[in-house]
Amino acid sequence: MTSTRSAYRSHWGLNPDVTFLNHGSFGASPRVVLEAQRRLQDELESDPIRWLAPERDLEKKLDPVRERLSDFLGCRFEDLAFVRNATDGVNAVLRSFPFEADDEILVTSHGYNACTNAARFVAGRAGARVTVADIPFPCSGPDAAVEAIEAAFTSKTRLLLVDYVTSPTALILPLARIIEAAHARGIRVLVDAAHAAGMVKVELDALGADYTTGNLHKWLCGPKVAGYLHVRPEHQAEVRPTVISHAANTPRPARSRFLAEFDWTGTFDPTPLLAVPVALDFLENVIHGGGIEAVYAANRALALEGRRILTSRLGLVAPAPEEMLGSIVTLPLPDGPPPEIGRTDTLGQRLFETHRIEVPIVHWPAPGKRWFRISAMLYNDATEYERLGDALESELTLATR
Ligand SMILES: Cc1ncc(COP(=O)(O)O)c(C=O)c1O
Repeated sequence: MTSTRSAYRSHWGLNPDVTFLNHGSFGASPRVVLEAQRRLQDELESDPIRWLAPERDLEKKLDPVRERLSDFLGCRFEDLAFVRNATDGVNAVLRSFPFEADDEILVTSHGYNACTNAARFVAGRAGARVTVADIPFPCSGPDAAVEAIEAAFTSKTRLLLVDYVTSPTALILPLARIIEAAHARGIRVLVDAAHAAGMVKVELDALGADYTTGNLHKWLCGPKVAGYLHVRPEHQAEVRPTVISHAANTPRPARSRFLAEFDWTGTFDPTPLLAVPVALDFLENVIHGGGIEAVYAANRALALEGRRILTSRLGLVAPAPEEMLGSIVTLPLPDGPPPEIGRTDTLGQRLFETHRIEVPIVHWPAPGKRWFRISAMLYNDATEYERLGDALESELTLATR
């Protein structure tokens, strides 16, 4: 096969022997971002107290990042806290919420397992219940998602936990309509936006969710680990970090307890957060004259091309309309054996070990019902989806022999 490697590939240090079609799981940072982070680490280690103590330079260093990010995410500086990752943000909100016995937390059947687990844990402690809105998949369109969620609201639903972009099924959900429907019933909404920043334009204030958390190390290409938590002002007194530290009884001058508590949850490495502006600069400028919008569009176009290649190659029916897709796409596979506990799916193992292709095999909604999810980032190119098509064709033929 002729190699038409992406012209952007050299910006990343990815292993040249691996076809990397899984940006969605943990992201991958461009070299320039990691170099900036390493410089920041060197500077920090040259003067750790000055860098890390909140009363010395930490807040002065975090605040310009918050300024830039709040502008980028369309929200107020005061409402944006930093967390380690989306799991941390979801846990902070759920564990702070004053659930009572018989309350219901509504999640969706497309939710991320770790976050649904957090909802179950919190519900269990309060004598509350987790209920599930079963969004059909294959999904005919945004209406199907709104209808499934509306049908699952009850008079006991206190909080809806819903994804911006679903992890197993790669659907961009119609959040504005979902949030409006929840608020009309007095239900608060926590948005798990793990995949959103850097994949689609995010406007947090306009969206109107009560709480939104997301990762900066996935599609925004920041270093691992970096996340944010946006909380509407009326809920900030209630929302506490997953780790309680000094600011619980030691106010910081001219700073809300909300920001002070999230800024310091014990000794941590702030350099991933401090390098986020470099990631933003990279994405704004990497496509000459296009800004970050051109990155969203290029990645989405490539994901859709990958989908076209794989559906026609393997005779698959695409399970979602284009309007619900960004830069990840989930496609069906024949049913197969569930992975052994603690192991990758055997097909996933073979794709990596035999074909050097990194792509997640997703068992959803139950073990044995298999899908695969492709990602598209600037460093990918169409030939990589062809290669995945070849590999799947040969593995699936082998499996049926
Ligand atoms: C929807 C969703 N929520 C949460 C997460 C968890 O992200 P993290 O492990 O960075 O907290 C992911 C990760 O892929 C995700 O897809």
